[in-house]
Amino acid sequence: MIPYIMKRYVATETRSGNPGDPELMQFAAEAGVSYVLRRDRSIARIMAEEEADGVIVWKQEGPVLDLGGERFFYHPSMGKNRVSQIRKGHSDPMIEAMGLKRGWEVLDCTLGLGADALVVSFVVGDEGRIVGVESSPVTAAIVRWGIKKYSKGPAWLKAAMDRIEIICADHLEVLKQLPARSFDIVYFDPMFRHPIKSSCAISPLRQLADHRPLTEEAIAEALRVSRSRVVLKERVGSTEFERLGFKPVFTGEHRDIAYGIIEAGS
Ligand SMILES: C[S@@+](CC[C@H](N)C(=O)[O-])C[C@H]1O[C@@H](n2cnc3c(N)ncnc32)[C@H](O)[C@@H]1O
Repeated sequence: MIPYIMKRYVATETRSGNPGDPELMQFAAEAGVSYVLRRDRSIARIMAEEEADGVIVWKQEGPVLDLGGERFFYHPSMGKNRVSQIRKGHSDPMIEAMGLKRGWEVLDCTLGLGADALVVSFVVGDEGRIVGVESSPVTAAIVRWGIKKYSKGPAWLKAAMDRIEIICADHLEVLKQLPARSFDIVYFDPMFRHPIKSSCAISPLRQLADHRPLTEEAIAEALRVSRSRVVLKERVGSTEFERLGFKPVFTGEHRDIAYGIIEAGS
């Protein structure tokens, strides 16, 4: 367990669910949370009795974290919309910044909800590879099991989701263990130093997320691991680009966001 994540979450079944479901037990162990019996209790009562900041309910369609109002669960939403645009022949600024090609291997060091990883997965296709690293055990487990349980939408969407390999760890530890030049692209989308208030898609994620700033050591390791480029997403005008040695070059239709790159071997 990573020390900065001080919140306490518990996992339980639905009111009509199977107590002690083996998949729920596996999920709870991966997420690093305690399992509690539902005993027909409301979410508010579980939160009070178990002194929990949130309750993860094991639903047929995947785990749902209830924070006492706000809910967090896996959904391909933003990634799916972007893939639909790419399928219609539109460009995507993140893909442009990466210079991404079919068959490439990408290490996403900040998986979050996996929206960017889904877009990458679609573009690299089944000859490529996408590995997502997420240091928040609850986020990683919700996304991993949410993808496993996701059964809606077209076959191409499910195929792209299923290709995302998820590792729950600090990206620096993962990078340090990787051989030189083992991925084409290494990508970072850290929690913005100054969040965009209107970005409600990731608002519940904020409570779960690792908010530590990127380190120069992680960027140096990423440059060693990358064959093509290291890409950083940040707010337009962020001082993080300069601090970490990136040239902010690509902005999308979303005026607030920019992508910086450092070419491998530069
Ligand atoms: C802004 S979100 C990423 C959103 C993601 N690109 C998407 O499309 O859904 C940043 C995520 O990176 C994770 N994170 C931050 N620092 C990390 C680290 N050192 N190692 C692994 N994950 C990290 C946070 O916990 C958070 O879930």
